[in-house]
Amino acid sequence: MSKIVKSKALNITSMLNEDRVFPPSQEFAKSAHIKSLQQYKKLYRESIQSPEEFWSKQAHSELLWFKPWKKTLQWKTPDAKWFVGGKLNVTTNCLDRHLDTGTANKAAIIWEGEPATDGKPGEERVLTYRQLHREVCLFANVLKKHGAQKGDRVLIYLPMVPEAAIAMLACARIGAVHSVVFGGFSAQSVADRIFDCKAKVVITADGGYRRGSVVPLKKNVDDALVLEGPRGDRLAASVERVLVLKRCGNEIQMHEGRDLWWHEELATVSPQCPAEHMDSEAPLFILYTSGSTGKPKGIAHSTAGYLLFTKMTTRYVFDLQDNDVFWCTADVGWVTGHSYVVYGPLANGATSLMYEGAPNWPEPDRFWRIVDKHRVSILYTAPTAIRAFMKWGDEWPKKHDLSSLRLLGTVGEPINPEAWIWYHNVIGGKRCPIVDTWWQTETGGIMITPLPGATPTKPGSATLPFFGIHPEIVDEEGKAVPRNVGGKLVIRKPWPSMLRGIWGDPQRFRDVYWTEVKGSYFTGDGCRQDKDGYFWIVGRIDDVLNVAGHRIGTAEIESALVSNSKVAEAAVVGRPDDLKGQAIVAFVTLKGAIKAEPAIRNELRNHVAKEIGPIAKPDDIRFAEALPKTRSGKIMRRLLKQIAAGNEIIGDTTTLEDFNVLAHLSKNDE
Ligand code: WT7
Repeated sequence: MSKIVKSKALNITSMLNEDRVFPPSQEFAKSAHIKSLQQYKKLYRESIQSPEEFWSKQAHSELLWFKPWKKTLQWKTPDAKWFVGGKLNVTTNCLDRHLDTGTANKAAIIWEGEPATDGKPGEERVLTYRQLHREVCLFANVLKKHGAQKGDRVLIYLPMVPEAAIAMLACARIGAVHSVVFGGFSAQSVADRIFDCKAKVVITADGGYRRGSVVPLKKNVDDALVLEGPRGDRLAASVERVLVLKRCGNEIQMHEGRDLWWHEELATVSPQCPAEHMDSEAPLFILYTSGSTGKPKGIAHSTAGYLLFTKMTTRYVFDLQDNDVFWCTADVGWVTGHSYVVYGPLANGATSLMYEGAPNWPEPDRFWRIVDKHRVSILYTAPTAIRAFMKWGDEWPKKHDLSSLRLLGTVGEPINPEAWIWYHNVIGGKRCPIVDTWWQTETGGIMITPLPGATPTKPGSATLPFFGIHPEIVDEEGKAVPRNVGGKLVIRKPWPSMLRGIWGDPQRFRDVYWTEVKGSYFTGDGCRQDKDGYFWIVGRIDDVLNVAGHRIGTAEIESALVSNSKVAEAAVVGRPDDLKGQAIVAFVTLKGAIKAEPAIRNELRNHVAKEIGPIAKPDDIRFAEALPKTRSGKIMRRLLKQIAAGNEIIGDTTTLEDFNVLAHLSKNDE
């Protein structure tokens, strides 16, 4: 049954061993927004044949405008402008518009805190749309009071608490551009991001809970604010104010004149805050993501197109209904949290659940306890989490009533069919459709996905494109490949929520996304389409790893490693990992007379955690006297990957500089 398909041009291999098909149940389809494959296909065809007409119609009916737009799309590769000349505000669309409807007193956010260490259940908070609106207006006034204005950048470094969403929305209210940094990132990462976007205000908390201990967020910010760049200048010199939320009550230092408590400031402002009239194309946020060089890219998203696309994908992909409790388990530090914890659900007037803690704290049934308690109906999580649940055993979900679930989703990496089937059987009770959604930080919203009432699903395939999305698989020359042949995944036409650029670096924007395949957006992913036109994502084809659903550039980890004074050279590759998808393996050569001792391994792992964050810690560090290089001096990553995976070296080694290096590396794995 299993057949391997190989594309000569790209050497992309993909397994064709999955031929199970799960059609939507009649019952689900009956009340779904899109009820059949025919209906999807008809709408899809329209959206591709007359995209401007399609999007214009959607923008009229979906969004509230202060001023209508003049031109639906202005497109000159690679710059797209959508709904040109229009004015709107994201928060009037996410909050104000619900206030004179029945939604005003509906839960906008249900928040579940991390359970206390003494076994007591976690805290719980519910914010209705009316309450959330008030909190956002208050905090928007705090931001204004401290000098944040339209266009200013605000860095948000908070745990998963409702205030993270409040801070994002408050920025949007006044037209400030937020950049959320995941709470697991280090002081160095915070400083680098502040430096790149020149943030004026930082919003953080004293600490955040993680598996019973406190992550010292404010301390990290303090450290970030004194870090110096290579030229001896302070990286975070742009920061004027630090607003601090009290979350853990851990001891922190407040710098007079710079640092202020969130709760004290709230008491000084009015709850009235008119929404700024923002251009359709005004930047809404910057989110940093890994690329194939050492420097994270500030992905910039705009206002109208992003809002429209996240609103529509939330409704159609998750078949959102009025009484749903929608739980996207991503942290707001990632794009998934932006689009499907905050903006998409709120624009639809939905109830969005937010959980502060880890899936296995205090016990591996934490998620299922929450599903049961809050009657969660839609669950959206990552394959890496699903594989962990599988490993922890069926007894944990079986302890709880999961009958409220009606739809499941996954995102972040390809899901292996075994995990898909387990998710379907054990969590979904065989009745819930699964939407495997492919997208990226850069795309802003879901691009390739089943529509649950319409698309028959195949475990492991993200299936078909969303409305208005035109993906294609191409070879080295940029020509479309036949069905069942692997190639590079590109998007041929602009879509409303596409990134508008890399912050401050238009050249890199062009180089990374628009030069590989002329005229098209290059995703960096390898892919294949089957006979039915279904898309099967193979994974990244650039030097970027996907570790537990997080993109991490190998170059980023390498530069962190060589910033340690003991390291001469480092090469980082991925190794297949049952749980995380990919594990990080670092090959390191040490300077001069330094001896490779096991203690250095720990030192280097901690060093990477300090430089980037714990998510980038190498799983495996191998010391070598030299790294395998081509005669022109390029590290031969293909060989290192094979060594890391424990495979025999196959393929061409004729350009290898010193064959002895290889023999040595293969043995070096105590
Ligand atoms: C990369 C984007 C989009 C939010 C989470 C990650 C991989 C994502 C899938 C999927 C196969 C997937 C791709 C993509 N990816 N979803 N359903 N099937 N691969 O965002 O950090 O920007 O990473 O994640 O390789 O390019 P991101």
